[in-house]
Amino acid sequence: MTPKQTVLEQTKKIFQNKYNKNPEVISISPGRINIIGEHVDYNLGLSMPAAIDKYLCIAISKNRTEKINGYSETLNDSFSNNYSSNNDSRNWVKYVHGSIMESLNKSKYKSGFDIVINSTIPMGKGVSSSAALEVSILLSINKIFNLKMSNNDIIKRCQSVDHNHINIKSGILDQSACLLSKKDSIFIIDFYDMNIEYIKYNLKNIKWILIDSKIRRELASSKYHERVNECKQALKLLSIQNNKINNFRDLNINTAKEISILPPKLQKRVTHVVSENDRVIKMKEAIKKESIKQMGDLLIKSHESLRDNYEVSCTEIDRMINFSKSIKGWIGGRIMGGGFGGVTINLIQLGYEDSFIDKLSIFYKNFFGLNCDAEDLSFVDGAETIYINSLN
Ligand code: GLA
Repeated sequence: MTPKQTVLEQTKKIFQNKYNKNPEVISISPGRINIIGEHVDYNLGLSMPAAIDKYLCIAISKNRTEKINGYSETLNDSFSNNYSSNNDSRNWVKYVHGSIMESLNKSKYKSGFDIVINSTIPMGKGVSSSAALEVSILLSINKIFNLKMSNNDIIKRCQSVDHNHINIKSGILDQSACLLSKKDSIFIIDFYDMNIEYIKYNLKNIKWILIDSKIRRELASSKYHERVNECKQALKLLSIQNNKINNFRDLNINTAKEISILPPKLQKRVTHVVSENDRVIKMKEAIKKESIKQMGDLLIKSHESLRDNYEVSCTEIDRMINFSKSIKGWIGGRIMGGGFGGVTINLIQLGYEDSFIDKLSIFYKNFFGLNCDAEDLSFVDGAETIYINSLN
């Protein structure tokens, strides 16, 4: 059995044991990485994500009560609350309840549910376990009530879960990646018009490795909002100055002088957004040409911009990336995700994975007294609804 089938089968069994019936629907969503294009989704830019073979699976069925009953095998925790209100402060409960509310929003349906959640996506490690949860629930409810939501609608409603129920004003990178990825492909998503281009990914001489710095910063979400607001403010000032500038896509790396009217901090933020969009396009060309060296250089440049212009890196990760430059087989890497700690994504020459991980781990332990975890990545299909029990 593949890791995906194993999670599916387990989830179905757990549901049967827990609720003494079959689930109506089972949905499964992978976690995601992002090769390049960071902090650009909420700035209508370009990103290059891919789904990875770690899964969150939910089994769900309507019940004939007003209650939503949830059980997380992963957390060994459960809840039972009223359909219409949630006063539970546990984050995972807020995600489940919020996803149900957002999926049924504007529809005529209302129902209680029995749900089981089972996941192999590591939580809090920047590979979007929460987006996978949202997407799985939205897909399931879409199926149960035949709501005919489009992928874009599902993605937008997942974002509303973050905004309205979790209070994180995130973009839509994570949910788009979980839902739209294709096996052995990476894709370029343009958040300006949601245009998507898939690139067949055939590079055999390299490996992608995720390194978890184990650094988690309490301030991460307030700093994230600070960046979102700084970009809004920069755009406002730019469009007052020049009414042809409506979004950051009206700028490019050759129109740098346009941004000189901004205060220095905002200039740096815009420089990141504009140059990161450019790097995504260059990465696409580099992958198509199989130019490994150029791919590595773009990752390093992205890291430098996230560190210096967007200021979302941290000392531990900067040291890691710097040290990696001295390790044979490391081609490039950068901080990934929202930042202020979390994980790095690294491009490694095939055959050097173990020695890279060993050397980096020793360095990290000596320097910061911390162990770093490594994860080898392969790219898989996005989320799907696998199973409907018509007997229910
Ligand atoms: C987090 C957010 C995404 C995106 C990234 C940064 O993962 O959830 O929407 O903004 O940070 O690229």
